Amino acid sequence: GKVRAPTHIVSTICDDRGEEPTYAGVPMSTIIEEGFSMGDVLSLLWFKRSLPKYCTRFIEMCIMLCADHGPCVSGAHNTIVTARAGKDLVSCLVAGLLTIGPRFGGAIDDAARYFKDAADKGLKPFEFVEGMKKKGIRVPGIGHRIKSRDNRDKRVELLQQYARANFPSTRYMDYAVTVETYTLTKAANLVLNVDGCIGSLFLDLLVSCAMFTQHEIDEIVDIGYLNGLFVLARSIGFIGHTFDQKRLKQPLYRHPWEDVLYTNVESSAQPR
Ligand code: ACO
Ligand code: LMR
Repeated sequence: GKVRAPTHIVSTICDDRGEEPTYAGVPMSTIIEEGFSMGDVLSLLWFKRSLPKYCTRFIEMCIMLCADHGPCVSGAHNTIVTARAGKDLVSCLVAGLLTIGPRFGGAIDDAARYFKDAADKGLKPFEFVEGMKKKGIRVPGIGHRIKSRDNRDKRVELLQQYARANFPSTRYMDYAVTVETYTLTKAANLVLNVDGCIGSLFLDLLVSCAMFTQHEIDEIVDIGYLNGLFVLARSIGFIGHTFDQKRLKQPLYRHPWEDVLYTNVESSAQPR
């Protein structure tokens, strides 16, 4: 009989060998002719299935709402400094992307993990928050540098409104809101931020759309798919900032001395 040569790579999301490429089995022509959206394509390539319209619309809202948040945030700043150093597009983009992590934009997966664990265990918000404090862990998805109780994050409001109107259940987001109500008693900037909102709502989407097994949901949360939404979204903004700086022919950036607190310089510079 035939002997199958062992392969070095396994791939399960797409196939480019036939007459036309397919994403999760769906041919390109279907994607174009049937008017698939970006959310549909993302669903095929990330989740290997088509999701209902209200889910793909939610995914697209996350991408649109997180595409940019001004030139001052960590990532855009890095991108701008890199563009002004004369680097190429890919370098500028990755310089920005490298700041995405536990403090900036990359708290979505951990927010989903911690909110899910706390809600499933039935922890009261104060038990959860004080438990995290004892462990010395900041609650992912809570807190913002400029947003606060009196200066709410419009992105969070828009996503919450949409989910309340379209999701079968918003159990995890509702839990995250009770956590926010508690943290706001501690400080005005401890709001549910956009990472926490997306993390909790994506759990609601995965659980309530009835398209995923429990094992698949656990895998998505364990692997950490959800920060990918922010990475994808903010790439749009970082690329925009790169073009902007190049269009403006901005010179090399040098941070002003006045904005640096130099300490111990004299003592360490003393001659022996
Ligand atoms: N959980 C518990 N306590 C907190 C949290 C939190 N998430 N955030 C701030 N605090 C408290 C702490 O007591 C903190 O003191 P510490 O430094 O001793 O831990 C104190 O508030 C100081 O807070 P601020 O100076 O106001 O915090 P800062 O502005 O430096 O941080 C940040 C903002 C980074 C977003 C922070 O709130 C945080 O780490 N949050 C968790 C991570 C997160 O969700 N990041 C995503 C933000 S949204 C986005 O990037 C798109
Ligand atoms: C962002 O979307 O970049 C943020 O919410 C972070 C910030 O400081 O605005």
